[in-house]
Amino acid sequence: MHRRSTGTAGERVVVRDVLGRRDRRAELAQDVHGGLSGRVRQIPPKYFYDARGSELFERITGLPEYYLTRAETEILQDHALDLVAEIGAHVLVEYGSGSSVKTRLLLDAMEARGSLEQYVPVDVSEEAVHAAADILAAEYPGLQVVIVVADFDMPLDLSFAGRPRLIAFLGSTIGNFEPQAARRFVECVAEELEPGDGFLVGFDLVKDRRELEAAYNDAAGVTAEFNLNLLAVLNRELGADFDLGAFRHRATYDEEGARIEMRLVSERDQEVRIGALGLAVHFEAGEALLTEFSHKYTHGSALALLQAGGLHLRRWETDREGRFALALAGLG
Ligand SMILES: C[S@@+](CC[C@H](N)C(=O)[O-])C[C@H]1O[C@@H](n2cnc3c(N)ncnc32)[C@H](O)[C@@H]1O
Repeated sequence: MHRRSTGTAGERVVVRDVLGRRDRRAELAQDVHGGLSGRVRQIPPKYFYDARGSELFERITGLPEYYLTRAETEILQDHALDLVAEIGAHVLVEYGSGSSVKTRLLLDAMEARGSLEQYVPVDVSEEAVHAAADILAAEYPGLQVVIVVADFDMPLDLSFAGRPRLIAFLGSTIGNFEPQAARRFVECVAEELEPGDGFLVGFDLVKDRRELEAAYNDAAGVTAEFNLNLLAVLNRELGADFDLGAFRHRATYDEEGARIEMRLVSERDQEVRIGALGLAVHFEAGEALLTEFSHKYTHGSALALLQAGGLHLRRWETDREGRFALALAGLG
């Protein structure tokens, strides 16, 4: 078991960079090549999150239409103590931690119980995770923060992390996975758990189309800027020449798939060059590039996903308006 460490805040932040910068660029090149060559053009949403993308996402979390963060915060305010107590967690691992703002509610609950020892944020956004780790190490004396800059789509070795462990996956990020990938992800989480550990996951719930579409089409245009920033990432990292003014943000709800589908739609016939790939891609006017799915769940579909991945649902908490849910699951 890991114990509370001593030392200055700086000494208590340890970095484990699983994906090097060169690997990340090579992976981006491969994903973009594959994503632009197929019949449906798409780029995985993890590439949104450079420093600017993470900053824009933070702005999204405060938008009036984006109820998700407020609803999940409300659940944590009401239930963090019970959820943490149910596991008796000493260690918090968080996938897709970003700015770790809501995380504080879990860390506070662990601190109040006197069990807070280690926090392990896992995120591809190096800038966001470093900034958050420095702040948290300074705010929670004795807390060891082990930064893992890595892709949670790939199996991770978390054997260094102590137990009992709570693995958190907040922000409805699980919704970005298509059903099969979501199941594989839950199976990987289950492999990281031992009896007594927990998995705390945030699900955005199926609701009225208007409310869902408004959340992804805010009046201030921040989500549009976030979506278009993906093209800026490709321009910078792969020497592409996307004209950000020639693509338009579109987010629509597909009821059958129970998911928001976010796209960038070409405003005109155009050819885009991607220097690093030696590729020229033609977009017709109205042709779309798929950038993100955000799947919405019901109690039934979330339960089925967790069970299919080998987990047992222990708690299900929703906000007072029933817009969002936090599920706590564990082994058998
Ligand atoms: C929707 S945001 C949620 C941020 C925060 N957890 C919240 O609830 O506000 C998704 C976060 O996951 C990270 N992320 C997305 N795809 C990832 C991947 N494949 N591996 C690791 N981190 C990823 C992003 O950098 C971002 O910080």
